[in-house]
Amino acid sequence: MSKYRTGVYPLVAIQTFIEATRDSGYKSTAAALSELVDNSFEAEARTVSVCLSEDADGKCIMVTDDGTGMSPQTMQLALQFGGSTRFNSRLGTGRYGMGLPNGSLSQARRVDVYSWTNPGEIWASYLDVDEIASGGLSSVPAPCRFKPDAADDPPSSPTGTVITLTKCDRLDFRTQKTQAKYLHLEFGRTFRHQLYSGKKLLINGERVKPIDPLFLRNGNNLTGAEPYGPALRYDVASPAGKASQISVRFAVLPIERWCPLSNEYKNAHGISKGAGVSVVRGGREIDCGWYFMGSKRKENYDDWWRCEISFSPELDELFGVTHTKQKINSTEMLESILTPDLERIARELNNLVRRRYLAVREESVELKSTAVAEHKDSLMAPVVLRRRSPQNTARVQGRITPLGYRIDEQVLEEVSFYRPSLAQERLTLTLNRDHNFYQKIYQPLAATRQVESARVLNQLQLMLLAVGRAECALRSAEEKIAVRRLRETWSNALTAFLD
Ligand SMILES: Nc1ncnc2c1ncn2[C@@H]1O[C@H](COP(=O)(O)OP(=O)(O)OP(=O)(O)O)[C@@H](O)[C@H]1O
Ligand SMILES: [Mg+2]
Repeated sequence: MSKYRTGVYPLVAIQTFIEATRDSGYKSTAAALSELVDNSFEAEARTVSVCLSEDADGKCIMVTDDGTGMSPQTMQLALQFGGSTRFNSRLGTGRYGMGLPNGSLSQARRVDVYSWTNPGEIWASYLDVDEIASGGLSSVPAPCRFKPDAADDPPSSPTGTVITLTKCDRLDFRTQKTQAKYLHLEFGRTFRHQLYSGKKLLINGERVKPIDPLFLRNGNNLTGAEPYGPALRYDVASPAGKASQISVRFAVLPIERWCPLSNEYKNAHGISKGAGVSVVRGGREIDCGWYFMGSKRKENYDDWWRCEISFSPELDELFGVTHTKQKINSTEMLESILTPDLERIARELNNLVRRRYLAVREESVELKSTAVAEHKDSLMAPVVLRRRSPQNTARVQGRITPLGYRIDEQVLEEVSFYRPSLAQERLTLTLNRDHNFYQKIYQPLAATRQVESARVLNQLQLMLLAVGRAECALRSAEEKIAVRRLRETWSNALTAFLD
């Protein structure tokens, strides 16, 4: 027989639900706190301030805004799961009535809300996971008047709200400094459009700078990308039958200028591994990823262009937005609207980037090493050339023109991995295609179509040209023989090492 009896079961088993709902899946602390920032901006706040601190019970976060504030009734509704003054509204970002309690308790075990519509009357209420779980709290406490201590500063705005998260046990980062750094990065990008429009967002007093993933606008990011083509607009009817629009724009990064940058720099500035689409709902980014590209797979070349798709919450169903507002789940219908154009443009951009990238690479690899060697040759004692004919004796012996340089690749009938030779005022360094230095080091490096490899190849070539020059500068037969022997012994050892 079942140990459970029938009877009256409340729809929600609140004591267990409260712990379970904490796992509702915000992908980061920033994504959860974005719910609070959304609410503040939606309440017409001009400034939202996020402060990280610590007290005896653990880490704390305080979000203060100068928005419209809430009446006690709204406050009670605000703390209720599903409570909203705008349930299913599509006018702003909020519509589910979940953001405040859910976002807050996903990070903290207690949330307190203080709000005022005039500075002399502050109301307060709260939710506490431990009180709920122990059965001490089964409904949203009625808001009470909050009397600040005499020492406390009065509210700095005529209307506004403060939300404090205490007993924060689920923050992403252990230290305040690292957490603040990541909040700057994520908020800068998530709320870039609000920040560009003049809204202020502070973290521990420091203003968050917008970050434009398209690299078009100035902010806490590099700029220099160019828009690619005009913005695309799709007229789509919302499920409620309202006319709505999706807009899509593309940008190409300044390949020629940025591809010689080091990999570390490109990673640090979001150039590498940043390929894809930024999805903006109601003016704030909710997701970014490789969307609407059909069968096109992501390649390294796709790091060099970006796309932004914007839509209004009216089209939430089409984009598969859920209450945590941090991801889209694209629908078949949406794919049929966007994918044909986006995939085509993505392929177009991939080709364009590839062409420009290879052109830069060819330019930089176009044996720049030989040009450098020619340029620098005159700084060194000249290599005395063997006379070729009586006619050019004077010119050769008192050489004015610098030595020319060339790198050649051949199958050499000898053990050396390279052989230098001088002829017609030019030093030719021939690499032995039969040697495993060529097969295992030189050729793979030359075949890699990456700027970083091109740079290493260039340096390797300079090193070989330098050793070739040193050998060609030798005058006596004994020296020449000794060095040739060294070259051969070295080449043999290299064969053994690389095999
Ligand atoms: N900072 C704030 N200033 C004024 N009112 C607020 C603030 N935060 C929340 N509210 C009120 O509380 C209600 C509940 O907020 P909550 O974030 O839980 O839900 P929502 O914003 O309506 O929907 P969503 O779940 O999509 O965010 C809001 O509808 C709003 O009326
Ligand atoms: Mg909300």
